[in-house]
Amino acid sequence: MKKRIAVLPGDGIGPEIIEQSIKVLTSVEKRFGHFFEFAYGSIGASAIDEFGDPYPESTHKLCLESDAILFGAIGDPKYDNDPSAKVRPEQGLLKMRKDLGLYANIRPVTIYNALLDRSPLRMDIIKDVDLVVVRELTGGIYFGEPRGRSEDGRKAFDTSIYSDFEIERISRIAFNLARKRKGAVTLVDKANVLATSRLWREVVGRLHDEEYKDIKLDFLFVDNASMQLVLNPSRFDVILTENMFGDILSDQASIIPGSIGLLPSSSMGVYTPLFEPIHGSFPQGAGKNIANPIATILSAAMMLDDAFNMEVEALSIRKGCEAAINNGKLTPDLTDSEKVCTTSQIGDYIADFINELVL
Ligand code: IPM
Ligand code: MN
Repeated sequence: MKKRIAVLPGDGIGPEIIEQSIKVLTSVEKRFGHFFEFAYGSIGASAIDEFGDPYPESTHKLCLESDAILFGAIGDPKYDNDPSAKVRPEQGLLKMRKDLGLYANIRPVTIYNALLDRSPLRMDIIKDVDLVVVRELTGGIYFGEPRGRSEDGRKAFDTSIYSDFEIERISRIAFNLARKRKGAVTLVDKANVLATSRLWREVVGRLHDEEYKDIKLDFLFVDNASMQLVLNPSRFDVILTENMFGDILSDQASIIPGSIGLLPSSSMGVYTPLFEPIHGSFPQGAGKNIANPIATILSAAMMLDDAFNMEVEALSIRKGCEAAINNGKLTPDLTDSEKVCTTSQIGDYIADFINELVL
């Protein structure tokens, strides 16, 4: 198959982890007889430096004209402690999600037996974890208007808004996903306080009763859900939640497998789907060849699976990642041993694994 992939390395460790994904995809291309065209674009702090815009029109056009987007990371500390900065790198990612209509963010949390002792949580608590956070990505407090400051600058406000159709379309994705998994959806909200959460419960409950009776649906308040995620994470199958709660809970869930550097994500919706690791730009690690590329490599696997229907190809990448982990090929976030691997060594290992696959 011939596919055009928009590659947006972004900031910090973005370029070096993306490079590993490209290596691995190049192996897939050769081994399975596909043709991938990699079209590079600019986003985030590097795009502000170059174009004065964290999501330039040229990048948007490139994304629209591609079959999928592979994205590295965004964020630069020079903007973090400057509340007066008018443009911020993160606006690039938010604008891309919004302009491409990517309302469904899927963040699977899988554990690796070889890493069970790397988790800050006890082995018996995490050993059966297999969950997915389905996060609404284009609504809620991230985008609601009005937002800003009062004239005297002494008050600030954000607005959380959800419409029934926005809740319904993401809920369908969660229910359909649960059907292919363990058949359970947990809606996480704050319905004891927030009007938006009460609408979520109403819409999700109705959709469940009308079309998804075979799925087990339960409801948790977000404070309780965050407790259950560390007390009993294996109780979850699909966690369905709004934008802000999903942001927070997915970072929390990411510590379960032992490193946030292992977790990929996909964002789907109206236009070109986007695949990215859930971690940030790790500026302290940039250029040092120490970052874990697995989350980005697994994001490429999600792309093959979800955007291109290349299931076997995706599986070969996942097997390659498992082989690296099982054979102790680990970056510093996953090992205290002297025999630590660099970012590029992990990429090489997985690319070689695919090159040598007997099909
Ligand atoms: C994420 C990130 C983003 C978010 C930031 C960088 C805007 O934390 O993808 O989880 O809050 O959505
Ligand atoms: Mn986040």
